[in-house]
Amino acid sequence: MEFLDRYQEIITAAIEKYKFKEKPVELYEPMNYIIGHRGKRLRPIMVLMACDLFGGDLQKAIKPSLAIEFFHNFTLIHDDIMDEAPLRRNVPTIHTVYGLNTGILSGDALLLKAYKYFEDLEPELFKACIRIFTHTGLLLCEGQQYDINFEVKEDVTYNDYIRMITYKTGMLSACSFEIGALIAGANYANAKAIFNFGKHIGIAFQIMDDYLDVFGEQESFGKKHAGDIYENKKTVLYLLAKEHATEEEEKELDFWYSKKTDNIDKVYGVEKIFRRTKVDEKTLRLVQKHNEIAQEYLQKMDAPEEKKKPFIELANYLLRRDS
Ligand code: IPE
Ligand code: IPE
Ligand code: MG
Ligand code: MG
Ligand code: MG
Repeated sequence: MEFLDRYQEIITAAIEKYKFKEKPVELYEPMNYIIGHRGKRLRPIMVLMACDLFGGDLQKAIKPSLAIEFFHNFTLIHDDIMDEAPLRRNVPTIHTVYGLNTGILSGDALLLKAYKYFEDLEPELFKACIRIFTHTGLLLCEGQQYDINFEVKEDVTYNDYIRMITYKTGMLSACSFEIGALIAGANYANAKAIFNFGKHIGIAFQIMDDYLDVFGEQESFGKKHAGDIYENKKTVLYLLAKEHATEEEEKELDFWYSKKTDNIDKVYGVEKIFRRTKVDEKTLRLVQKHNEIAQEYLQKMDAPEEKKKPFIELANYLLRRDS
């Protein structure tokens, strides 16, 4: 996609320019490792897109867009520790390569680097951006804690799940768009509309991520197949399967989700129930639903229709993503 390539290039060049060269290398090398293995870099693209949409100066948005990417990578390092994930972006996770302590510390350092990358903004804008950024970070932590709590909670509802993913994923894409809009000097109504667009895109994106954990190709997804099943994650797949399971299937799900085990039979058993209950189709419909809500917010934005097209393309791209 042409417009995505253009933003990607800007971000890639900036990341190269601001590559961490400080000492001790034991701290900064892992930070370069995770950033260097790229990922889709969607969130900094969101910052630049929002800035462009409302006629802002892209140059001014570059460092804040990197801030968001650094922050995102910090959350990934710590998330992989919490989820005991061995693989990300098709390479071994930071704590697997460099150890747990380095994982914790290089994650912390990325979070702090993120704050520094807002420093060039003028005081009022700096304050507004830091305010939403910090608020988002705290909600993300709350979402992550719910995610962990739900591993052992038996009566997780669909609403619990939606709140959890809104916090852990939806808020950061919302924040990315809003920061881009603020840098462009967008008015309150536009900033809120793009925030809500991002929130629902983020919710749809996380539902898709939960789907791909089971129904995606490990090679392109870049993460261990069925990691969520091994970790007893109460994803929407699980919730839908519980809802549509026979008594026997429900017993089997309860059995597998009451313990953590590396036994591959767990994945076979759970996936069989997921397929039988057709949770794959049901989940994709939910992705679509949140995508549609996002599109409604896009309509509400006061900007030329022509300039909104990339947002529709972005939504289609990331919700059909295979990596
Ligand atoms: C992974 O995000 C974390 C989730 C919210 C599912 P991405 O899928 O955007 O990760 P990268 O940055 O492209 O690797
Ligand atoms: C975590 O969701 C999202 C954040 C990193 C905050 P997941 O745990 O599902 O993300 P992945 O699948 O490991 O990327
Ligand atoms: Mg994870
Ligand atoms: Mg997680
Ligand atoms: Mg996931």
